[in-house]
Amino acid sequence: MAPLIYYDSKTGNVERFVNKIKVVTGWDIVRITDDLEIKKPGHLVTYTTQIGEVPERTVDFLKRHAKYIMTVSSSGNRNWGANFAKAAEKIAAAYHLPILLQFELSGTQPDVQKLIHLLNQDI
Ligand SMILES: Cc1cc2nc3c(=O)[nH]c(=O)nc-3n(C[C@H](O)[C@H](O)[C@H](O)COP(=O)(O)O)c2cc1C
Repeated sequence: MAPLIYYDSKTGNVERFVNKIKVVTGWDIVRITDDLEIKKPGHLVTYTTQIGEVPERTVDFLKRHAKYIMTVSSSGNRNWGANFAKAAEKIAAAYHLPILLQFELSGTQPDVQKLIHLLNQDI
């Protein structure tokens, strides 16, 4: 089955990143909203905020739907040093999920190819 991606984005970087994946693969991407209900397993792509923190909407989404989430990836900015894309690490630790990718802003083409490659591995 084709991978399904759930994503959270505030200023548009993660949205641009997952759209690049969609252009190449045609996979379904679903934006996380406050009331999103899901019934299918998928992969989470989010961003890091407030000095190494997981965005509030992502936190709420995971409280309700973590059982459907198979992997986590996070956008960030290397200017934040040790807190770079740390949301992925916090989510991975809290829910025992593998981290697939930590990338900067809206990701490079190699980042896009890397995530596609990993999601094709049948994780
Ligand atoms: C207030 C604020 C705090 C941030 N804190 C971090 C951080 O701790 N670590 C990090 O890697 N990026 C941090 N960032 C950068 C964002 O994670 C990055 O810009 C990301 O691409 C935003 O995704 P979005 O455009 O999809 O919302 C921060 C950005 C803002 C505005």
